[in-house]
Amino acid sequence: MLTDWTTKHSERFGEDIVTFGHGLVESGLFTDEALIELMKKHPMEQMDVCSMSDDSDPAFPNQFMTGDFRGVDPKTLLDAAKAGRIFMNLRNAMNLHSEYKMLLDQMFGDLAKKTGFESFKPKGSILISSPISQTPYHFDKTQTILWHVRGKKRMYIYPMTPEFIPDEAYEATAVSYRVDDLPYDETFDRAAQICDLKPGEAVAWPLNAPHRVDNGSFCVSVTTEYSTRECVIKNNNMLANAALRRGLGFKPSYDNDGEFKRMAKAGMGVVLRKVGYIDRNDTPDMVSFKVDPRAEGFVVRTEPFIRDF
Ligand SMILES: [Fe+2]
Repeated sequence: MLTDWTTKHSERFGEDIVTFGHGLVESGLFTDEALIELMKKHPMEQMDVCSMSDDSDPAFPNQFMTGDFRGVDPKTLLDAAKAGRIFMNLRNAMNLHSEYKMLLDQMFGDLAKKTGFESFKPKGSILISSPISQTPYHFDKTQTILWHVRGKKRMYIYPMTPEFIPDEAYEATAVSYRVDDLPYDETFDRAAQICDLKPGEAVAWPLNAPHRVDNGSFCVSVTTEYSTRECVIKNNNMLANAALRRGLGFKPSYDNDGEFKRMAKAGMGVVLRKVGYIDRNDTPDMVSFKVDPRAEGFVVRTEPFIRDF
């Protein structure tokens, strides 16, 4: 599954931005026909159909809007993604369906062999997105890899310094289950590393590196995520730091903490998690448009309501 992997890739994987070739295109599981068959059987509650809002805060551009796609057949959804401002995420599709699970097992079986890291428990989702889709500036709390399959995508990956990812912003995402965006400024782009992805190319980056993606055409990609010991310790630290900053007025810094402090805070984070410090229901998922093939861009705005499907 890894088509051009060298020992250099193994050395840099997880530490640096690494691009590599993969064989997902040849599987035949990402053609229009295959995706339509997949959408027919994929559970509705594991699927998001989104668009981008045009009236958002300038510091948080291109925020996603959740769409109502009930009663819309898969072929029309695919047409919507090709034509309009529609973006679909088939969450965990790589785990839930046996033919895709076989691919996922190959992808990570090969990565395990090459990197020596054996304990991958990856989740894989399939993203189907329109030519003008943009994924806003954000970071992921787990290790993420983007495996690009169809179309052209430009990915911007930013440095891991406080200017690009302030501790306070990370802490906010640790406390709130649904928040994962970071404040963005166009001048950030000067420091970004740009990866132009073609079909058959994948990119991996260091844990938590902020990034954003612009589509250059209709795109199909697989995103995978997995957790490591480092992810768990850091996420628990950020939760502890959020509590210290918000509750007690401290000014904690993850970078400045040594090993001992980090381990103590990781323990504190575990306790905070157990006592329910994370507010998992702070912002309900609000549906604000309906997919309609008769409308321009397939999007009709609706009165917002809480997603219940
Ligand atoms: Fe991401």
